[in-house]
Amino acid sequence: MRKIDIFDTTLRDGEQSAGINLNTAEKLEIAKQLEKLGIDVIEAGFPASSRGDFEAVQKIAQTVKSSTVTGLARAVKSDIDTSWEALKGGAEPHLHLFLATSPIHMTHKLKKTPDQVVEIAVDAVRHAKKYFPLVQWSAEDASRSDLDFLVRIMNKVIEAGATTINLPDTVGYATPAEYGAMFRYLKENVKNVDRVKLSAHCHNDLGMAAANTIAAIQNGADQVEGTINGLGERAGNAALEEVAVALHIRKDVYHFDTNIQFNEIKRTSQLVSQLTGMAIHANKAVVGKNAFAHESGIHQDGVLKEPTTYEIITPELIGETSNRIVLGKHSGRHAFKDKAIALGFELDDEKLNEAFVAFKELADKKKEISEDDLYVILTDKQTQD
Ligand code: KIV
Ligand code: ZN
Repeated sequence: MRKIDIFDTTLRDGEQSAGINLNTAEKLEIAKQLEKLGIDVIEAGFPASSRGDFEAVQKIAQTVKSSTVTGLARAVKSDIDTSWEALKGGAEPHLHLFLATSPIHMTHKLKKTPDQVVEIAVDAVRHAKKYFPLVQWSAEDASRSDLDFLVRIMNKVIEAGATTINLPDTVGYATPAEYGAMFRYLKENVKNVDRVKLSAHCHNDLGMAAANTIAAIQNGADQVEGTINGLGERAGNAALEEVAVALHIRKDVYHFDTNIQFNEIKRTSQLVSQLTGMAIHANKAVVGKNAFAHESGIHQDGVLKEPTTYEIITPELIGETSNRIVLGKHSGRHAFKDKAIALGFELDDEKLNEAFVAFKELADKKKEISEDDLYVILTDKQTQD
C-alpha cells in the first residue's frame, strides 16, 4: 500500500467560494477538526491577502501540531516575507507558492514570456527557501500547459529547492485519462523528480474532480488536494471525503492508504457546512442527507434483509449513526411494518393492511411521511373495532 498525503484547502480555496467568509475563530475551529480527521497538510489561508487571513493563518500555525500548516503566496517577495511572519511559529513551516504556466494565463493574465515565468518561479522558490524547509510550488493551470514547458520549469524549481510540485487542473477542464497521462509524462521526463512530492489539485467544473484526482494517484501523485464538501471557486474542488472513501472502499483496485480517520468525516462535513453557511446537497456522495436513505419498497426490503444489497459504504464508517428508511409513496409493506413495530404498535395482519392502505393514500399527497403522520394512522387503526 502506497501512502497518499491529503492536503486540505477548505480554509483557502474553499473559502474562495462565492458567499463564504470565515473569521479567525471559525477557521481555527475547522482547522482543529481537520487535524482530528487526519489531514496531513492544512492550507489555512492566503496570509498576504488580508489582515484577517494573516491572523487566522498565524493562529492556526501556532495551534495545530499534528498536521503541517501552510499558506498560499504569489511568486513575489513581499507575499513570501508576509507568509513567513504568519507561518514561522508552526511545527513544520511550509509555504505554497504558485505561478501560472499555461499559454493562456502567461499571455493574457501575467503578460510574461515563458522565459520570464521560469525566472520568476526560480527566484520565488529560492527566496522562500531562505525561510521555509518545505516549499510547494504550483504550476497554475498545469493541465492546459505545454508538457515540455512543464518539464523545463519543474527541472528548474526542483533545482531551486522546491519540495513538492503541484499540478492543478485549475479550471476543471481535464479528463481523467488526460490528467493521469500528464502525471505519468512528468514522472518519466523531469530530472530528479523523485526528490519531490507530486501533488494533484482538481476543480469540479465538469464534475470530474474526484475521478481526475484518483487518476493522478494512479499515475504517480503522492499528495492530493481538495476541500471538505467540495467547496471552492466556481463549481468547487475535489471533495476530500469522496476521494478518501473511494480509495478505502475500492482498496481492491486502488492500493493506496491515507491517514484519514473515517469516523470523523460526518462531523467535519457538518461543522464546515454550519460555519460556512453552505448547505450540503441532499444527494451529495458520502455526506449528503440522502447518502444512506432508502425510499423505494424494493430497496427498503433489500436493505432490511441485508444492508449490502444497496449500501456499499456503511454509515458507521463515516461516523453516521445509521441508515434511514424513509417512508414515502414508493415504500413497501416490509418497511412500513418495521416502522410500526419500532413505534410500539402491534397490529394484526388485517389492521396492518388497512393502515398500509391509509399510509399509501397519504403518501400520494406528501413527499415524506413523518413519524407523527404514522402515529396518527396507526393509532386510528388500533382503536377501530
Ligand atoms: O486551482 C488552482 O490552480 C489553485 C492554485 C492557487 C494552486 O488553487
Ligand atoms: Zn484551486
